[in-house]
Amino acid sequence: MEKVISKLILGDCREQLKNLADNSVDLIFTSPPYADSRSNTYGGVKPDDYVNWFLPISVELLRVLKPDGTFVLNIKEKVVDGERHTYVIELILELRRQGWLWTEEFIWHKKNSYPGKWPNRFRDSWERLLQFNKLRSFNMYQQEVMVPMGDWAERRLKNLSETDKVRDPSRVGSGFGKRIANWIGRDKAYPSNVLHLATETKNRSHSAVFPEALPEWFIKLFTKENDWVLDPFMGSGTTLRVAQRLNRNGIGIEILPEYYQIAREDIMVIEEPLPPQLPQSVEPVQPAQLVLLEKKKKYEPTKPE
Ligand SMILES: C[S@@+](CC[C@H](N)C(=O)[O-])C[C@H]1O[C@@H](n2cnc3c(N)ncnc32)[C@H](O)[C@@H]1O
Repeated sequence: MEKVISKLILGDCREQLKNLADNSVDLIFTSPPYADSRSNTYGGVKPDDYVNWFLPISVELLRVLKPDGTFVLNIKEKVVDGERHTYVIELILELRRQGWLWTEEFIWHKKNSYPGKWPNRFRDSWERLLQFNKLRSFNMYQQEVMVPMGDWAERRLKNLSETDKVRDPSRVGSGFGKRIANWIGRDKAYPSNVLHLATETKNRSHSAVFPEALPEWFIKLFTKENDWVLDPFMGSGTTLRVAQRLNRNGIGIEILPEYYQIAREDIMVIEEPLPPQLPQSVEPVQPAQLVLLEKKKKYEPTKPE
């Protein structure tokens, strides 16, 4: 088995991303600082400034992602002045203008969120995982995340109706159909786009650690062994640690030395982080520029009003 490389870079991703080669990464999986949150630990970005702050970063991500790669963004809008701020929605629209396809949205249901009482809302138990791609056709290894059929199969497949035994066309005329009987005798099914995972309880001295199971699921779904995974907001290094365990190469960028140190403590750094240059063995693929042309879209940032 090829040895995988883990590159941990101490620095600002707005600068460090420029050192990475075009079209060199298979999966970008990251959880950036949420608007304004945790400003006491690593400097919040104001919700109104969030989109403008993020766009120069995402244009670099668009450049470094391979055409058949995937970008997964873990984010959630915060409540400002009694309502949900719209920066995530605005960001999605701007990312599409930038050339990204907004391919899918997954929900991370935090199974163990704290109970509480708020005057006008209930406890927040989910976060978004927005999936973006450069092209409509991208690498996806669906069989790697199949789940046990469970009770459903036993209950539902016991008494099959006549419709269940033939292909039942979609009632909304989508052209899709299902044949329930196809699932007889199978012990695994494809999962849904809702992930039920507990938050990380041992917080690794970082205030916003996500559980290892989160990057693990996406790394398995969108990469194979020896592919490259990038986390430009590495924090304590969860994405990188999982990538290494799953035999994927990883690049992590973290601005704060204390978090960078935490990551270094338990990720076996196989190659020194500087200079952050990908090895020659990473095949150059179609330049990002061509991909954008292919989509007949040009990136023109919208002017703030
Ligand atoms: C939400 S946390 C990520 C936590 C990470 N997923 C984990 O499991 O530990 C975001 C991280 O981004 C870092 N950060 C903020 N701005 C950055 C920048 N411009 N470049 C690199 N890292 C940055 C913060 O210091 C913080 O550690």
